[in-house]
Amino acid sequence: MADAPGPGANGLCRALIFLGPPGAGKGTQAREIAKLYGVPHVSSGDMFREHVERDSPLGRRAKPFMESGELVPDEIVLGMVEERISRPDCARGFVLDGFPRTLPQAQKLDEVLGSLPCRKELVMHFVVDTAQLLRRLTGRRTCAVGGEIYNIYNHPPKSPGRCDHDGGELIQRPDDREEVIRGRLGTYEARTRLLVDYYRRQGILVDLDGMAPPAEVTARIAAILAQAR
Ligand code: AP5
Ligand code: MG
Repeated sequence: MADAPGPGANGLCRALIFLGPPGAGKGTQAREIAKLYGVPHVSSGDMFREHVERDSPLGRRAKPFMESGELVPDEIVLGMVEERISRPDCARGFVLDGFPRTLPQAQKLDEVLGSLPCRKELVMHFVVDTAQLLRRLTGRRTCAVGGEIYNIYNHPPKSPGRCDHDGGELIQRPDDREEVIRGRLGTYEARTRLLVDYYRRQGILVDLDGMAPPAEVTARIAAILAQAR
């Protein structure tokens, strides 16, 4: 079984793209699926937050856009993601969470994948209604140490404010304030939703019921991946 594709064997051998609005569950599922298949979870949002935290030049450029719920300009995003997915640990596939978000980003990804060993794309489109997105985002808390994602309404930690796994402090993202959330949802509709059609036309997009409980969504993604081989 060593060469059989599947969890822990050949990884995913594809670029698995998680597409959907803020709060749809992309990060929650990307962490699970990446762990299950032993491949990197590549989140452009997490990468930007690390840069902001370090106060790097890239972080200083990205910060005002993130704080206002706008997209960081393509020229900043593209080099960062290209460099990340070209590293050797992505050779067995990877999960892209929050990238691409614009047509130029999607086109650039197609181009970069042409030179990578695992170049087939599969897009999971998370479908969740707006009221649920607002509730999820206002209730989200994230571990400052390991990045584990919680929710005060439906997935609270065992001890308030502390991560179950490593005891890290749970923090609220600065862009999870209601006024910024509305901006982020508007940005998704104006600039990212068109990618649903872009990928659907290519026959590589699957609609996912993102309203289902997290474990059900994970099982559904794993089933789709098993079938897609
Ligand atoms: P980014 O970090 O990508 O944020 P986002 O797309 O707004 O998505 P979120 O992380 O808010 O939501 P999610 O879908 O990951 O949901 P989660 O799993 O956490 O981007 C942040 C910013 O960076 C952008 O605004 C932009 O400025 C910049 N940026 C990033 N990438 C960029 C790019 N490519 N181009 C330009 N700019 C870019 O879940 C949310 C909550 O719901 C959690 O509390 C969770 O516990 C709960 N939950 C999850 N699943 C379920 C479920 N099935 N049922 C019930 N609750 C659930
Ligand atoms: Mg996320």
